[in-house]
Amino acid sequence: MIKKIAVINGDGIGPEVTAQSIKVLNAVAEEYGHQFQYAYAIMGADAIDKTGNPLPDETLEACKQSDAILFGAIGHPKYDNDPSAKVRPEQGLLRLRKELELFANIRPINTYTSLQHLSPLKAKQLEGVDFIIFRELTGGIYFGKRTISDDKTYATDECAYHELEIVRVAKMAFEYAQKRRKKLTLIDKANVLETSRLWRRVVQELSSQYTDVAVDFLFVDNAAMQVILNPAQFDVVLTENMFGDIISDEASVLSGSLGLLPSASVGNTAALFEPIHGSYPQAAGKDIANPLGSILSAAMMLDHFTLSAEAAAVRAAVNWTLANGFVSKDIDAINNYGTIAIGDLIADYIKRSAKTSSVNNTIINASTII
Ligand code: IPM
Ligand code: MN
Repeated sequence: MIKKIAVINGDGIGPEVTAQSIKVLNAVAEEYGHQFQYAYAIMGADAIDKTGNPLPDETLEACKQSDAILFGAIGHPKYDNDPSAKVRPEQGLLRLRKELELFANIRPINTYTSLQHLSPLKAKQLEGVDFIIFRELTGGIYFGKRTISDDKTYATDECAYHELEIVRVAKMAFEYAQKRRKKLTLIDKANVLETSRLWRRVVQELSSQYTDVAVDFLFVDNAAMQVILNPAQFDVVLTENMFGDIISDEASVLSGSLGLLPSASVGNTAALFEPIHGSYPQAAGKDIANPLGSILSAAMMLDHFTLSAEAAAVRAAVNWTLANGFVSKDIDAINNYGTIAIGDLIADYIKRSAKTSSVNNTIINASTII
């Protein structure tokens, strides 16, 4: 298979974690006979420094020309601490999501036995935790009209949704639920917000087309509590843009580290894969960042290319590093490995396991013939 991948390193630890994913993708390409062609592009603070624009036209074009986008991280403290900044790195990512109509952000949440001690929750509550968040990504308060009064003392952010924006992401979530444990939870604030009541009506109506999926509804404040109290109750979680942003960061602590979590942002044509962590500038260039969020995002990209065996091989390699203590500093403060070393271990494991399984296949085939 030949695939064109646009690679956007972005800011902070973005370049170093993305480099590990490229290493892993190259190992997959080599062992499974694929060709991944990379086109590097810039975005975020990096792009502002170089061009003044957080999303240069060439980057958008490179993304449009690609089969998938691999993205690192975005953000820089010099903008976070300057509320008056006219241009912000995050505008690059938000515009890219909008331009490519990446309306569904998919964030799987699962737990690893070897990391349970890192979670603030008791091991018992972590048993069976395996859910997936569908966050609407191109609407709501993130993209509504903003105003600030002339004297800068009054500001507004509008939260708006059209039915069609809800239907397309909800359908995706329902279809996903059908392939899983057939449960969908809509998180909203329908006791207060008009947009939430619209979400609830649309999801209720759609549910008649997916009668095998059990649907329930939670107010976001209760949901925030349930994610900690009883996370195993969730299967597919569907929610609007900002609630999804918040709930997914909260849910990440269940796994043990924010550094582990991947995500896919998809639309009808384009697809972007990125870890959910931020640019973590304090760690940039120190070889201490956890590359697994990015590597697992690359695994989601392989699934998107319908390369399921390859995606499974990447996940098996990641599980092997976690189970054997080849982990970064966020996971073990004393015995840890560098970002690059973990990338090497995962790439090597994929190469070794691909060779072993092809040897096994040959033996099986041989014995079948005999
Ligand atoms: C995320 C991030 C972004 C968001 C920021 C960087 C704009 O937090 O992908 O979750 O809020 O969507
Ligand atoms: Mn976020």
